[in-house]
Amino acid sequence: MKVAVLGTGTMGSGMARSLLRDGHDVTVWNRTPGRAAALASDGAIVADSASGAVRGADVVITMVFDLDAVVTVAREFVPALKPDAVWLQSATVGPEGIRSIAELAAASGAQLVDAPVVGTKRPAEEGKLVVLVAGPQPLIDRAQPVLESIGSKTVVAGATLGQASSLKLACNAWVATITAGIAQSLAMCVTLGVEPALFLQAIDGGPSDTPYAHIKGALMLAADYEPQFAVDALAKDLRLMIDVVGPGFGTLLPALSHVFESASDSGRGGQDVAAIYGEFGK
Ligand SMILES: NC(=O)c1ccc[n+]([C@@H]2O[C@H](COP(=O)([O-])OP(=O)(O)OC[C@H]3O[C@@H](n4cnc5c(N)ncnc54)[C@H](OP(=O)(O)O)[C@@H]3O)[C@@H](O)[C@H]2O)c1
Repeated sequence: MKVAVLGTGTMGSGMARSLLRDGHDVTVWNRTPGRAAALASDGAIVADSASGAVRGADVVITMVFDLDAVVTVAREFVPALKPDAVWLQSATVGPEGIRSIAELAAASGAQLVDAPVVGTKRPAEEGKLVVLVAGPQPLIDRAQPVLESIGSKTVVAGATLGQASSLKLACNAWVATITAGIAQSLAMCVTLGVEPALFLQAIDGGPSDTPYAHIKGALMLAADYEPQFAVDALAKDLRLMIDVVGPGFGTLLPALSHVFESASDSGRGGQDVAAIYGEFGK
C-alpha cells in the first residue's frame, strides 16, 4: 500500500521501517526534517510537508507527540487526503482527544480510525506492536495490510472512536504502575541495605514476575536511560487518565502522576521512564 507516516520520532521511525520491510511504499514527514532524513536510506520517500506526504496515500499514520501536535499537523494534511484514504491516528491522545480529532476529520470527510499502539521502541522497529483499533470495520479492514506490518496483534476495542484510546490509557496505567513498582522495590532494597538485584532474583519465575521488571529493572540498576518511552510521554498520559476518569477515581493515579511530573521537573523528561528510579529513596 501507499502509506504516509507523519512523525518520525522513536515510534514513527520504527513503524516506517516495519512498513518498508514489508514492501509498502512509504512516505515520511517530520516537523524537524533531520529526524526523517535517516529513513531515506531504508527506502522511504522523505516529504518536506505533511500535505505533500499524504498526497496519494491509501493509509496515513499520525504518530506525533500529543493532541495539539496531531491537530496542528492534521489541519495541514487533511485537505490533501485522497477521498478513500484511511487515517490511522496512533499517537496517545485519550478518548477526549480522539473525539476532537474526529470532529476535525468529519468536517473534511476524512476517514478516521482510532489506532493507538501498545509496545515501545523495539516492538515498533520489529513490527511487533499491539495495535488497538476502534472505528468503522470497513476502514479497519482496508488498513489491514498496514496493521499487519506494524503489529503482531490487532485488538478491536469497539466500533466507536475513542474506545481504543480508552483501552490504551488503561494499558498505560498498568505500565506506569509497574514501572513505579519496580523502581520502588529496587530503591527499598538500597534504603534497607540489601543488594537491589536480589529483588529481581526473588520474583524471577514467580506469579508476580513480569518480563518488564527485568528489562526496566536492569536499566534502572545500570542508570541507562536512553529513551524508549520518555518520562514526559507517560506524564502526559497520566494527565490524560486523570482528566477522563475524574477526581473520584482513586488516589493511585495522582500519586503516579506526581512521580512522573517530579522526574520531569528534575530534568529527566526526555529520558526513559526507567529514570523515575531517581525519584525513590531520596
Ligand atoms: N515511545 C513509546 O514507547 C510509545 C509507545 C506507545 C505510544 N507512544 C505514543 O506515541 C506518540 C509518539 O511517541 P514517541 O515515543 O515516538 O515520541 P518522540 O520520540 O518524542 O517523537 C515525538 C514526535 O512528535 C513530533 N511533534 C511533537 N510536537 C509536534 C508538533 N507540535 N507538530 C508536529 N510534530 C510534533 C516530533 O517532531 P520533532 O522531531 O520535530 O520534535 C516527533 O516526530 C506519543 O503520543 C506517545 O505517547 C509512545
